[in-house]
Amino acid sequence: MITEPTSKYLSNTVQSIQPSGIRRFFDLASSMENVISLGVGEPDFVTPWNVIEASYHSLEQGYTAYTANAGLFELRKEISRYMKRRFGVSYSAEEEIVVTVGASQAIDIALRAVINPGEEVIVVEPSFVSYAPTVTLAGGVPVPVNTYSEDDFKLQPEQIEAAITDKTKVLMLCSPNNPTGTVLSKGDLERIAEVVEKHDLLVISDEIYAELTYDEPYTSFPAVKNMRDRTILISGFSKAFAMTGWRLGFACGPKPILQAMLKIHQYTMMCAPTMAQHAALEALVNGQKDVVKMKESYRQRRSLVIHALEEMGLSCHVPGGAFYVFPSIEKTGLSSEEFAEQLLMKEQVAVVPGSVFGESGEGHVRCSYATSVQKLEEAMRRIDRFLQTL
Ligand SMILES: Cc1ncc(COP(=O)(O)O)c(C=O)c1O
Repeated sequence: MITEPTSKYLSNTVQSIQPSGIRRFFDLASSMENVISLGVGEPDFVTPWNVIEASYHSLEQGYTAYTANAGLFELRKEISRYMKRRFGVSYSAEEEIVVTVGASQAIDIALRAVINPGEEVIVVEPSFVSYAPTVTLAGGVPVPVNTYSEDDFKLQPEQIEAAITDKTKVLMLCSPNNPTGTVLSKGDLERIAEVVEKHDLLVISDEIYAELTYDEPYTSFPAVKNMRDRTILISGFSKAFAMTGWRLGFACGPKPILQAMLKIHQYTMMCAPTMAQHAALEALVNGQKDVVKMKESYRQRRSLVIHALEEMGLSCHVPGGAFYVFPSIEKTGLSSEEFAEQLLMKEQVAVVPGSVFGESGEGHVRCSYATSVQKLEEAMRRIDRFLQTL
């Protein structure tokens, strides 16, 4: 019997990837008292009550068995209606939608369904921490393309072209972006689409924050001309519907790819949790007013944080979506890791060092404003005090 696992049993692939930099930081913060966390990437709202009730009813009615592998048909039909209504894209509930265990699993099976060993995936950085490791776990090679604060962290089409090799297969997009909050406009997406078409790429478009945009109408990448059949759309219930713990997401896309993803899902997951699927159905049918309410609250908190940071002299582009701000801390002369560590130690405010999101995140920190106004105000006072000690 193996009593103490040793590294010789581990796969080379797993050994080649690092644990999430965000987790490391939070383990440290959770061991301290009086910490205000601007670190977590999740809503501070509890899931709306009608959605919680729908899961109770699901259990009361005895829905305790597996659903179809692709997910409850009623839910897939509702996702299909939702995608059409909100984003103007049509997907068949029968063949082009898979309900997953969070957007996280959708990203994983999307990559595993399309990547052959050694094929390259362009990852736009700063990026959500899971993308590059998930590409590696799928046998692919993540190729970072940096974005910069001067461009409001918007991906420039020439940068994609410069990164393309004969091994490039996939471009991973995320708008609104985590950690920068940057939203790509219709025009930005159209310019990106030209490059995608020219180089025959597939796009995985993570739109989990699509409902949380504040300034302009949102354009979904598959709604851009000729992009529907080159795009795997990833979304989920975690952010807009305040359902991170329910672990429910979905993927939509062209039938051959979605059916390939379904095979992996079938053999590894069987299906997403049944009561969570009933809850998600309720969220789609009756949840839009709550989404609007929560979004309004995030919008107000975004203003509060941006104004406070500006007053402290920390420059910050105005993020069009999600619930993150990504101010520059370059003028302090500290690295993002030093800044985050010292701020935590001296003032008990937890933010995430930009460097965990890739090389171009250095010089910035990610602050989530999905926390109460009172805590945000206190956190801003503490950051201000911290800056004055430098
Ligand atoms: C960009 C992005 N995609 C996906 C996820 C994961 O979402 P889920 O909770 O649905 O797995 C997150 C969570 O932080 C995220 O920020």
